[in-house]
Amino acid sequence: MSQRRWALAEHPILTRIGYRAGMSDAIFPPATHEAFAACYPHSPAKLRHHLLDHPLLSLDALADLAGALPVDSIEYNPGALPIGIDPNAVPKSDLGVVEAIRTIDQSGCWVVLKRIEQVPAYARLLQDLLAELADVVTPRTGPMLQLEGFVFVSSPDAVTPFHFDPEHNILLQLRGSKTMTLFPGVDETVFPDQAQEEFHLGQHHRNLPWREDFAAYGMPITITPGEAIHVPVKTPHWVQNGPAPSISLSITWRSEWSYAEADARAFNHMLRGLGLHPARPAAYPARNVAKSLAWRALRKVRKSA
Ligand SMILES: [Fe+2]
Repeated sequence: MSQRRWALAEHPILTRIGYRAGMSDAIFPPATHEAFAACYPHSPAKLRHHLLDHPLLSLDALADLAGALPVDSIEYNPGALPIGIDPNAVPKSDLGVVEAIRTIDQSGCWVVLKRIEQVPAYARLLQDLLAELADVVTPRTGPMLQLEGFVFVSSPDAVTPFHFDPEHNILLQLRGSKTMTLFPGVDETVFPDQAQEEFHLGQHHRNLPWREDFAAYGMPITITPGEAIHVPVKTPHWVQNGPAPSISLSITWRSEWSYAEADARAFNHMLRGLGLHPARPAAYPARNVAKSLAWRALRKVRKSA
């Protein structure tokens, strides 16, 4: 851990307001705990949280965080993007990211601070939040693995194009509003098997091709401060920010179940290359053990060859 990151964990803002890691009050209320238990891991759901006005998530603290994170942990996009876009066609911005965050009401962009757990204070916050949900998660998909947090700071009306993410995810809205439109991950037209297989082999960007006729399959969920969305693994979605600047926190984890599904996808890609037409990995609660073990064995052989 670099000197600079430790310096942020001891930032005067945190000392001034007396922030200490480890929360005594639950962030997710009992009704949300029940709603999460009813939907995890396969269905989207709107949830609630009490994480408002947290000192680590103010604009000032986030601007400091942006200055402390490695450059490759920051994604910085202009706000006026179409729903579907080739990642190579996204225009670059000249404004520094720290300045863009501090002036988010007028900088016309959206910024993602990735893997915020690289800074110890944020790692503790992430662990505290996810620990509240572990009693639902662990019996179903195994222990929470690879805990990662992402903060989205967005200008009014910014658009995050159509894409998917490989993690289990809960998106908490902290300031402003946004509408996430989610699409059925099982629909081959909207979400081709080939894109998933190539993604797990590192050959496909998370952005997906968009067609206007997909709109009919979308389920829009709008969240305001105090609300959250459970986004199941690899559910395609796009996001429209509301008319005010927005801050959202995404708390994510992987699981043995999600790794096995990803490995089964990679194995299918190999079978397809042999001219076969493999069946899709089975949905939860199936665990795709045979294909994932086969892919892991194959990967091991390839590495040692
Ligand atoms: Fe996403």
